[in-house]
Amino acid sequence: MTSADAIRSAVSAVTDPELRRPIGDLDMVRDISLDGTRAQVAIVLTIVGCPAAARIESDVRAAAASVPGVDEVDVEVGVMTPAERKALTEKLRDGRPARQMPFGPDSLTRVILVSSGKGGVGKSTMTANLAVALAEQGLAVGLVDADVHGFSIPGLLGIPAGTQPTRIDDLMLPPVAHGVKTISIGMFLRDGEAVVAWRGPMLHRTVQQFLTDVFFGDLDILLIDMPPGTGDIAISIGQILPHAEVLVVTTPQAAASDVAIRSGLVARQTGQRVIGVVENMAAFTLPDGSVLDLFGSGGGAAVADALSTDGQVPLLASIPLSPALRVGGDEGVPVVIGDPADAAAIAIRDLARSLTEQGRGLAGRSLPMRVS
Ligand SMILES: Nc1ncnc2c1ncn2[C@@H]1O[C@H](COP(=O)(O)OP(=O)(O)OP(=O)(O)O)[C@@H](O)[C@H]1O
Ligand SMILES: [Mg+2]
Repeated sequence: MTSADAIRSAVSAVTDPELRRPIGDLDMVRDISLDGTRAQVAIVLTIVGCPAAARIESDVRAAAASVPGVDEVDVEVGVMTPAERKALTEKLRDGRPARQMPFGPDSLTRVILVSSGKGGVGKSTMTANLAVALAEQGLAVGLVDADVHGFSIPGLLGIPAGTQPTRIDDLMLPPVAHGVKTISIGMFLRDGEAVVAWRGPMLHRTVQQFLTDVFFGDLDILLIDMPPGTGDIAISIGQILPHAEVLVVTTPQAAASDVAIRSGLVARQTGQRVIGVVENMAAFTLPDGSVLDLFGSGGGAAVADALSTDGQVPLLASIPLSPALRVGGDEGVPVVIGDPADAAAIAIRDLARSLTEQGRGLAGRSLPMRVS
């Protein structure tokens, strides 16, 4: 038997693509009536011109039409009153006061910084791919681009220029790319605008706002793409997230490993735990079977050994040089989904799996795993 209740439950299950919760839970469903085989459905959205409006409306229409006995659907879309919006943002915060950093030591979210001593070793490429690989495993993943001066995450994830976080009053919703909730200074700059002149306090405020004012919801893992080296931002993040875990990225080159070791030691001074080393740009096997060893070998193992003074720090992965990885970054389609059979893609997915198997309880402790 068709009833307004059956339509209500179908419509209530539609998910808000930005808030990632059923619209029924978000109190967005209003009057529903049935006139013969014609359903009338009223919903309210958070703000006028909500970017997800068209998608929600069509999903609601389809959900109502899927109820047996419904032939026609009218959808009326309204907007929440300020009081309703306030109730919603309070509900989303789940009792947490505004302006409180949700990733403190008691949070259930693992926070992993991807850092390096030297620039250009592939941190951002690794962070973007790792985030997508973890999301593909079914985890709720967030990514903060902490490289304010040299941001590159929006491009690597194919987030179109001009994409901005949606605001619901004082909540900022991060854009979602390939399943990853992402925030970057690049989403706040107008064309050609630069942040070159920003110094310590501005940088500190920016990363603090990313971690506090952006509404990520419940995350399993938050990855942070760090700028190269151990400058102002690394120090700020050390203060804001002293319990974070750190992945150190290095190339196989001996010269790169010395600086990588230093960055690992600096992270440790703030209390952060180095959970492993990722060697990137390792030997690449050409189609004829010969091996291209552009940056030599051994750097990853050397860094892992040098950082293993206080419990073993494993070399978690060795990612080969890969044209497909580079192209995927340039095109905004991470290789883990764009070319999943590529050797680098396979190595990154393995890394994602070993991170989740490692679990955060084991972080920093001695682990048997060793890759070389
Ligand atoms: N395994 C790889 N094979 C081939 N190219 C790679 C690989 N890893 C990274 N690259 C390329 O190297 C360049 C630098 O990578 P990326 O920007 O990720 O480094 P980074 O450490 O984040 O740099 P920065 O320190 O400037 O933030 C990019 O062009 C990227 O496509
Ligand atoms: Mg980078």
